[in-house]
Amino acid sequence: MISFATILAALLVSPNPGTALPSRGKHHGKEINEFVYVDGLRLRTSQGLHYLTGLNYWSCMNLAADESLGGNYSRLVTELDQMAAKGVNHLRIMASSEGAPTPQPFRMSPPLLEAPGKYNEDVFVGLDRCLAEMGARGMRATMTLGNEWQWSGGFAQFVSWANDDEPIPYPSSWNLTAPPQREIPRTGWGDYTVQGIDAAPYPEFVDFANRIYNDTRAEQMYRDHVATVINRRNTITGRVYNSDPTIMTWQLANEPQAQAPLGWEGPYDIFLKPNPDDLLLPWVERTSAWIKSLAPRHLVSVGLESKQGEWYFKEVHKFPAVDYATAHCWVQNWGIYDMYNSSEANLRKAEDFAVDFVRNTSQWAVDIGKPVFLEEFGMARDNWENIGKEYPYLSSANTTHKDAYFETIIFTVVEKFKDDGAYVGTCPWAYGGIWRPETQYINDFGMVWAGDPPHESPGWYDLYDTDSAMEIVHNQQKDVHAWLEEEGLCR
Ligand SMILES: *[C@@H]1O[C@H](CO)[C@@H](O)[C@H](O)[C@H]1NC(C)=O
Ligand SMILES: *[C@@H]1O[C@H](CO)[C@@H](O)[C@H](O)[C@H]1NC(C)=O
Ligand SMILES: *[C@@H]1O[C@H](CO)[C@@H](O)[C@H](O)[C@H]1NC(C)=O
Ligand SMILES: *[C@@H]1O[C@H](CO)[C@@H](O)[C@H](O)[C@H]1NC(C)=O
Ligand SMILES: *[C@@H]1O[C@H](CO)[C@@H](O)[C@H](O)[C@H]1NC(C)=O
Ligand SMILES: *[C@@H]1O[C@H](CO)[C@@H](O)[C@H](O)[C@H]1NC(C)=O
Repeated sequence: MISFATILAALLVSPNPGTALPSRGKHHGKEINEFVYVDGLRLRTSQGLHYLTGLNYWSCMNLAADESLGGNYSRLVTELDQMAAKGVNHLRIMASSEGAPTPQPFRMSPPLLEAPGKYNEDVFVGLDRCLAEMGARGMRATMTLGNEWQWSGGFAQFVSWANDDEPIPYPSSWNLTAPPQREIPRTGWGDYTVQGIDAAPYPEFVDFANRIYNDTRAEQMYRDHVATVINRRNTITGRVYNSDPTIMTWQLANEPQAQAPLGWEGPYDIFLKPNPDDLLLPWVERTSAWIKSLAPRHLVSVGLESKQGEWYFKEVHKFPAVDYATAHCWVQNWGIYDMYNSSEANLRKAEDFAVDFVRNTSQWAVDIGKPVFLEEFGMARDNWENIGKEYPYLSSANTTHKDAYFETIIFTVVEKFKDDGAYVGTCPWAYGGIWRPETQYINDFGMVWAGDPPHESPGWYDLYDTDSAMEIVHNQQKDVHAWLEEEGLCR
């Protein structure tokens, strides 16, 4: 729990926007000195039960990097203060991003890992700063070490590197320089484009990325990266990452997928057929055990969406080194919700699905005796209001559906926390803070740093600082805190 005093202290120690960066090797803020541990279906610290009021903030290391690398330190501290003020105590961030031999507009740039073994030290320092600033605000991190999807390079890039730069069959991705463009250069909207690439179907891309499960060279390159991050010494705090309690969890990857031919086949498929030979399973088993051996005091999670149903949920999360299960709930992407449909029935369908999804995954987690963390979910704004306007994702649209949906899904998780279900927190996708599509400016690296990753339309799933969804996040933290005090479950 973050106390008011912690928030106040954090506000006092954070540099004012525009002031100099903290000098290297010095650390002015507070620190987190305690590891979070798992106890049955719960997370705990010596303060009692630990509930995760989380947010996705994947670009933290790039925002924290120097301005010459496309960073914006004053934005970073402003947004961390905003999140802390809403009771946020956990951020899920990227601790990996891979470059490519050719420019890729739909990738985090500049990348942390430019080529096998070749790091951009300045981006690494961004990750150091990010952890130092989080610790000063009482926030812990999920550190995501890889990615199924193209927006950080991820599995596909490792497979490509391991096979003489074999071309990656990219699905169509957001391209900020594609039309429509506005008159003022670099303030354009972009579009999903097939220009410049022969866009492949998603299943083809997934098959390519999943080759990491049995390509030993690609796996070794991934492991080299994991070991480098886990053994790094933070240049701001002096702490070695593997013994820094600001880090709660090492996560194998963002949304590793089941293997073909039973992988992603379109909308959410709860009845995906069990495939006992799925190479995902031994990969999770050996990778989680290996990561645990490098960072025994930290937790390990997989990053699975858990959209594949009960069998996959249990098989993937059953391995001893996997400390808790993860779930991601994506009603629009899975074809349940339509962001242009203003009807109550459309919203209801999404809410019913989400409630079912949370209850099912909670029960499955109870069955395997581990906690579960809802670490991704989101909903578009009322974008039917934007039909015919210059951009479908304008921030001026209302958020009636999103707010109702957030209230429902977040408080279903809270209910499953209080009633001895296995849920331990929520982590909406994703904090966009002070960014808006209307004022976006494409930096020298082709980035805008919205809450949406580079391969998706900027503004789709952002939580802005002024959004009422942030009040819902805050109400969750207050509600849980009051309950824990009432029950005597925290100090
Ligand atoms: C950096 O962040 C500040 C807010 O702290 C904002 O006013 C400014 O526009 C940002 N700069 C860029 C280049 O995005
Ligand atoms: C992005 O769009 C621009 C402008 O249409 C085009 O020249 C470029 O090839 C596109 N890039 C990719 C990777 O599709
Ligand atoms: C990896 O597994 C796939 C699917 O089972 C198989 O077709 C392929 O030959 C395997 N590759 C290697 C390098 O073992
Ligand atoms: C809106 O969604 C509801 C619920 O799915 C559906 O019954 C209705 O036909 C949809 N309306 C349109 C215009 O798509
Ligand atoms: C939840 O589980 C029930 C029973 O197995 C199943 O019918 C339903 O489709 C599941 N729903 C979701 C969203 O997981
Ligand atoms: C948002 O909702 C209000 C109240 O229903 C309405 O007056 C306003 O026009 C809506 N905004 C947009 C951009 O449609």
